[in-house]
Amino acid sequence: MTILLLGSGGREHALAYKLIQSSKCSQLFVAPGNAGTASIATNISISPTDFEALKTFVIQEKIDMVVVGPEDPLVLGIYDFFKNDNAINHIPVIGPSKLGAQLEGSKEFAKEFLVKHNIPTAAYDSFTVATVEKGCAFLETLQPPYVLKADGLAAGKGVLILNDLEEAKTELRNMLVGAKFGTASEKVVIEEFLDGIELSCFVLTDGKNYKVLPTAKDYKRIGEGDTGLNTGGMGAVSPVPFADALLLEKIETRIIKPTVDGLQKDQIEYKGFIFIGLIIVKGEPIVIEYNVRMGDPETEVVMPRIQSDLVALFQAVANQKLDEVTLKIDPRSATTIMIVSGGYPEDYEKGFEISGLDNIEDSMVFHAGTSIENGKVVTNGGRVLAITSFGADFEEAKKKSYQNIDKLHFDKMYFRKDIGKDLK
Ligand code: AMP
Ligand code: GLY
Repeated sequence: MTILLLGSGGREHALAYKLIQSSKCSQLFVAPGNAGTASIATNISISPTDFEALKTFVIQEKIDMVVVGPEDPLVLGIYDFFKNDNAINHIPVIGPSKLGAQLEGSKEFAKEFLVKHNIPTAAYDSFTVATVEKGCAFLETLQPPYVLKADGLAAGKGVLILNDLEEAKTELRNMLVGAKFGTASEKVVIEEFLDGIELSCFVLTDGKNYKVLPTAKDYKRIGEGDTGLNTGGMGAVSPVPFADALLLEKIETRIIKPTVDGLQKDQIEYKGFIFIGLIIVKGEPIVIEYNVRMGDPETEVVMPRIQSDLVALFQAVANQKLDEVTLKIDPRSATTIMIVSGGYPEDYEKGFEISGLDNIEDSMVFHAGTSIENGKVVTNGGRVLAITSFGADFEEAKKKSYQNIDKLHFDKMYFRKDIGKDLK
């Protein structure tokens, strides 16, 4: 099969790494990809949201399957674009329909879905510019901290957690009246604060059947000890040591199964990944968000642990026969450490040469923000490389990643030295 993968991050390099391991994959294109995907597949410079250009390309190259990495093309409706066009509707798109993608594209849609299907989630209400004063009154009924969520996609920045009531009211006005996150904050969900430990769970579904993928935990803050600004993710471990059989069973029966059943009941077409963000409060899992794609850097620890043929899994998703395939998971732990450009997630420079890549032993290097210039691999983004290793436990895996990071260098490189420290 000839496969087209959309995206350009560490997540896509990890997906590409897994796709090309399949004997079913004869050729892999990545649009637009990075220096890592260029080393194992063919990059093409088309934006994942330029649907017309993608259509021309898939016809020209006789693409057999499209795998979507990031959320933007999904929320913009790439699944429906293919489905509704006779020239390309025979090509399966791995990802949800436009309606299904609203689980990530609209926090209010997600909350309504959760409540409708009796899936545990934090109490909430949602507000618009017309009801901003009601929103302020609602805040007064809550205990701090206050959780404000922009309804739409806001590049991971749309959630504010504030301790002070007056500050929360000001930010609510900034979001609704001042368009702090543009159209994404035309609506704001105000949510009960949940005090617990976070866990991400990943599901692959064909809209009817599902497979539960390994759990992961990511580290979102830039600074050690979970301090400083939020990033896309600075590292991840899989499996999550505290996710024992009892907790996993609760997550499956109370959250995963009702989610997939809910999609079916609501006739929402969904053939792709569901990433469920959970907070565990006193042993009970509660949903804080859905994403309609894999996580980054969680993919860099989840994909290496999948031993089954990923292309066969995707074919089963496309044919709604996921119940007929088995999912085999590597029992070892994986840890990934993200190396970023100094200054990230604020301003940073690009174009620094990365040295030492050839010296890596016993770890996987997934490129995130890299490109090739004059034959050299250079930095091209905030998050640059994810170094993933296996171990008997996450600590052993982590140690290998850190040993290999010592061999790498680029100007102003930074990484967190405490990934997984809270799990001891
Ligand atoms: P989200 O964009 O929904 O993942 O939210 C970003 C982060 O905000 C999450 O990773 C949590 O750390 C935090 N968060 C979101 N919702 C809640 C909540 N209801 N209670 C506590 N923390 C939350
Ligand atoms: N690492 C969090 C995310 O991909 O949304």
